Amino acid sequence: MLNRITVVGAGNVGATTAQRLAEKELARTVVLVDVVEGIAPGKALDQMESAPIEGFDTCIIGANDYAPAEGSDLVVVTAGIARKPGMSRDDLVRTNADIVKQVSQQIKRYCPNAIVVVVSNPLDVMCWVAKQVTGFPRERVIGMAGVLDTARYRTFLAQALNVSVEDIQAMVLGGHGDTMVPLVSYTTVSGIPVRQLLDESKLKAIVDRTRNGGAEIVAFLKTGSAYYAPSSAVVQMVESIARDKNRLLPCAAWLEGEYGLSGMYCGVPCKLSRKGLEEIVQVELTAQEREDLKKSAEAVKQTMAAVNL
Ligand code: APR
Repeated sequence: MLNRITVVGAGNVGATTAQRLAEKELARTVVLVDVVEGIAPGKALDQMESAPIEGFDTCIIGANDYAPAEGSDLVVVTAGIARKPGMSRDDLVRTNADIVKQVSQQIKRYCPNAIVVVVSNPLDVMCWVAKQVTGFPRERVIGMAGVLDTARYRTFLAQALNVSVEDIQAMVLGGHGDTMVPLVSYTTVSGIPVRQLLDESKLKAIVDRTRNGGAEIVAFLKTGSAYYAPSSAVVQMVESIARDKNRLLPCAAWLEGEYGLSGMYCGVPCKLSRKGLEEIVQVELTAQEREDLKKSAEAVKQTMAAVNL
């Protein structure tokens, strides 16, 4: 259990994340911070009042400033505006870059030793903003995208195969956008390669649906984007860190030559421990997957160019 986790942004993703963290008792205290007056204390109090029913002893504090966040072991960044219909994640870039810049300055000041897990979109670029502004090493600034994209991919595969989601093992790499790279060659159903169970056309449809998984939900919600699965995904990463589990999960990490890429964040297989990023694991990819990963990384670099740091 960590001592203190702060979640910045008490909107849909942030508030749901705080509740899930508390229900799993991953920290003694969870601090929820938001710029909008009242929203964080109000939601935190409501969540605390669920504790006797859910049976958790984690204390949830809501605040309009960072004083209660001081000395946090881990900070989850969900501040930003969410995607509206017709808006790509990259449309969000300038607004959210300014927000993540402000948040990162506060993290540097109040939580200089924290591990930062970024959720705000466009994810890979916001991770870079957080890393640049905090000056933290790459071990302590990672991004949540791959776990969510992989969960969507696993959901669709389980539905198509009529098997338990628990039996689908898979990884989606690359940037968090339409160029993400589901690793079909490594997708298995209890160890059986998925290509033995599904034909190429069905697999292609599932890969396409995964790539558009975020937009599919935005089209339904109209006024916001997904938050139940995103909060589950970030909590899975936090759990691996808090419990020092060394889980191997697809996360956005700052690359320094791995997979032939450097100078950007991109989704790759990562071990997460109490240090944060313990190790980037390099696996062999097919020629097509390598090409797709390179394209995805180029798309991230293009979006980075839109931000002035
Ligand atoms: N500091 C703290 N909180 C902020 C700041 C800031 N500088 N700027 C905005 N916020 C808060 C908003 O007040 C709001 O409560 O961030 C919250 C965002 O919540 P939602 O609008 O509900 O958005 P949400 O669905 O939670 O998505 C947040 O995560 O998945 C990504 O694309 C998504 O970038 C978006 C982020």
